Amino acid sequence: MFGSPQDLLLTLRQVVGDDGVKSDIDVLRRYGRDETEDLCFLPDAVVRPRSTGDVAKVLELASRHRVPVTPRGGGTGLSGGALPVHGGWILSLERLDRIRRVDDRNLLVEVEAGVVTGTLQRHLEEQKLFYPPDPASHERCMIGGNIAEDSAGPRSCKYGSTRRWVLGLEAVLADGRILRIGGDNRKDVAGYDLAQLLIGSEGSLAVVTAATLRLVPLPPARLTLALPFADLEAAASSVTEIFRRGHNPAACEILERRALEAVGTIEPLPRGLDALEALLLLELDGRDAESLIDDARRIADDLAGDMAGEPIVAIDASDQRRLWRIRDRVGEAVKGLSAYKEADTVVPRSALAELVHAARRAASEQGLEAVCYGHAGDGNLHVNLLKGSLSEEAWTRRRDAAESQLFAAVIALGGSISGEHGIGWTQRRFLPLLRSDALIDVMRRLKEAFDPVGILNPGKIFIEPNPRRPR
Ligand code: LAC
Ligand code: ZN
Repeated sequence: MFGSPQDLLLTLRQVVGDDGVKSDIDVLRRYGRDETEDLCFLPDAVVRPRSTGDVAKVLELASRHRVPVTPRGGGTGLSGGALPVHGGWILSLERLDRIRRVDDRNLLVEVEAGVVTGTLQRHLEEQKLFYPPDPASHERCMIGGNIAEDSAGPRSCKYGSTRRWVLGLEAVLADGRILRIGGDNRKDVAGYDLAQLLIGSEGSLAVVTAATLRLVPLPPARLTLALPFADLEAAASSVTEIFRRGHNPAACEILERRALEAVGTIEPLPRGLDALEALLLLELDGRDAESLIDDARRIADDLAGDMAGEPIVAIDASDQRRLWRIRDRVGEAVKGLSAYKEADTVVPRSALAELVHAARRAASEQGLEAVCYGHAGDGNLHVNLLKGSLSEEAWTRRRDAAESQLFAAVIALGGSISGEHGIGWTQRRFLPLLRSDALIDVMRRLKEAFDPVGILNPGKIFIEPNPRRPR
């Protein structure tokens, strides 16, 4: 009955409407990339359903016809999780964009996968409620993608990554069955915790269509503190000291000179930040400005011996935004410098200075430039290796060698190969360095249990010994 791919597209249009299916080349190109390097894989079609029921029909159809399906949110991923590497359909959740309900008695919100994270946060802030996870892409990324990758961001330091905030999920299995997992309860140990299993599974087990998220009251006061350092490793060592001395910042970020300079190429830096070797950027939050100013003073006193100059304290919302804009734009700025490869390294926080050292060493031994910045309070450093003017061949060879050396050092420090960007497509070859055969075997068997025909985000996370093209 469904002879050709054209017939299949016709059926798909009957399910999600004409405007829910696109196959013109410019649309395919746009949805064929995410924000991972310069990679692009063309899908056969882009499908944009409006409801969970329609997602279920699309997946049932895809399963029946063995069409690869790559779920997609805002397309801001950095490990290629949303790239349709086997073609097939991009399943974009962008039109599931309703905030279904805000419950201010139980402090939770039920939200669809296609709601932009920043839009949700502003909506909640109007009601004095707070959903903390804040990826740098918060103005473009979507809740569904944040769940798929267990995204984090600066405030993960005090508040944890996306997974800490999920109480329930609505998700669709590859065969089209709809799962409702968890819900409004703050505790629930009835059976396996499938919500936590789906979080961070990069769209490979099921397609999340909605989530119930836990909230907290919006902290009434915030303050931003910028601490200057003459040396990146000194800045990294100070991070442990901040927590050891009993401080509890909402965010504690680190940027090295090259990262600041990169931002300086796209917007002017505030005076004093343009010639620093390293910067720690902290956010404090709490009851009132006075107590935060007092906390900021105590942090500055505790680190006085290590800093290279006076700290900047920002109290006005606009001054704080100006400082955080530097941090938000650094990824984009580094991208503008050169072709690059990013390693999303993470180690126990006290090993951050050793990680910084290892990153610089791995890069310099290969004659590469590295730009480091990231979520110091979480021990999570984004190490960006730059191609610069190298030939393609020299770049590939040196990049691979530097990355392997870096990840070996990360693992020796007790760390992991991805803190918040996922394994996706670009980091697959490193997974066996970190996870045992037994663990990978269990992961593969879970994948089979959820998605027996292998249509969901095929080609991701695992290196396939015998690539199984699901069509
Ligand atoms: C950031 C992204 C790269 O922290 O995770 O800017
Ligand atoms: Zn980050």
